[in-house]
Amino acid sequence: MDLNRTDFGSDFQWGVSTAAFQIEGAHDADGKGLSIWDVFTDSRSIKGGHHARIACDFYNCHERDLELIKQLGIPNFRFSLSWPRIFPSGKRPVNLRGIAFYDRLIDNLLEQGIEPWVTLYHWDLPQLLEAKGGWTNRDVVEWFSDYAAICARHFGDRVPNWMVMNEPSVFTGAGYFLGIHAPGKRGLPNFLKAMHHATLATSAAGRVLRSETKSANIGTTISCTHIEPKSALMRDIAAAKRVDTLLNRSFLEPLLGMGYPMDDLPVLRKLLPLLSAGDEQKMAFDFDFIGLQCYTREIVRHSIFTPYLKAAIVPASKRKVSFTEMGWEVFPESIYHLLTQFSTYRNMPKIIVTENGAAFRDVVSDGKVADTARQSYLKEHLRQLHRAKSEGVKVDGYFVWTLTDNFEWAEGYNARFGLVHVDFETQKRTIKDSGKWYSAFLKGDASL
Ligand code: FCB
Repeated sequence: MDLNRTDFGSDFQWGVSTAAFQIEGAHDADGKGLSIWDVFTDSRSIKGGHHARIACDFYNCHERDLELIKQLGIPNFRFSLSWPRIFPSGKRPVNLRGIAFYDRLIDNLLEQGIEPWVTLYHWDLPQLLEAKGGWTNRDVVEWFSDYAAICARHFGDRVPNWMVMNEPSVFTGAGYFLGIHAPGKRGLPNFLKAMHHATLATSAAGRVLRSETKSANIGTTISCTHIEPKSALMRDIAAAKRVDTLLNRSFLEPLLGMGYPMDDLPVLRKLLPLLSAGDEQKMAFDFDFIGLQCYTREIVRHSIFTPYLKAAIVPASKRKVSFTEMGWEVFPESIYHLLTQFSTYRNMPKIIVTENGAAFRDVVSDGKVADTARQSYLKEHLRQLHRAKSEGVKVDGYFVWTLTDNFEWAEGYNARFGLVHVDFETQKRTIKDSGKWYSAFLKGDASL
């Protein structure tokens, strides 16, 4: 059956997502402070030695990309605010030139009739706060709450939709446990502190946004991955349950007032010494929506070699399945399973898919990018989303990751996720076939 935009309902929110560090560039413009990602990229930790000092030059030329959004007919634009642009030292005083940039961006979006969706934190912590321990220092809850208050006061009159955090499991796991993302810290003690403080900061900033804005739509985003055991053996099933608990439940359940899922992931008991009286209540917040971000599934087996988890992931490259440039399996049913899984929580708010997309090797030929694989990835995921919605799951939006190719964290510029191709030498934009298809779909001229 062909599916059209109208089959998702007239209230369904369609959009495209981005993040400040991945697109803005202008790393030291107009008084901006350093972020942990500026420092991490300077230490040549990224593939190819890539850095994001210019990235997509969005800071200087954002009008060009807003024109593209307008031309493509995408009604909602998700972007993040750079904390060190607004607070160069991480705390007050405010950098008014940083505020002025976001004022211009928001005003331009509204002039173009595009609705802003703002993420407060998409991983670019001010370096001066990292010097004080960053997410491992409990004071970060206060620092972040004050930053949230300033953002709400400056932009709350024009921004109707807010997301507090982007994927806390990823920035704490990759940044404070594995050391493959900024700030490059490792080890369980760092991870657990960062996890607990990020959770407290998420709900605290949710409360700040609620009190500082009138009727804002307030959410936060969670990374999730559909998990399946490698075999029907009990030990593989148990390993899969632990990984599911870590990746899909540990950062969400405390926000829903359920505390950390320590019974299903015993290593989380090591959080107990970090919990102060009243933390369980403080971690909960009544969000208007949860942003679900899903790209793939993982197959998990028991492994005695992985400390704490006793589980290992079987890479897609070893499973005779198709996978993207990130090595992530293309498995659209994932989004259906996750939407269904998340909707079983008694007090789950509505869900918006705030990121979904794929990196493939794109070639510009005769001014075109024939990215059929990305196009079918998006279509199949939307079909699976529709399947969940038609079975009653409250899912009210879908945002493609991402508008233009950009700086893909540890992968640098090698992984291209955009609907629009970027030549990073010239900053030339070329709308890919997937972008043309998304546009036609949104205009009612194409179906799934
Ligand atoms: C998500 C991040 C986003 C982007 C995509 C590919 O985990 O939130 O910034 O890198 O993955």
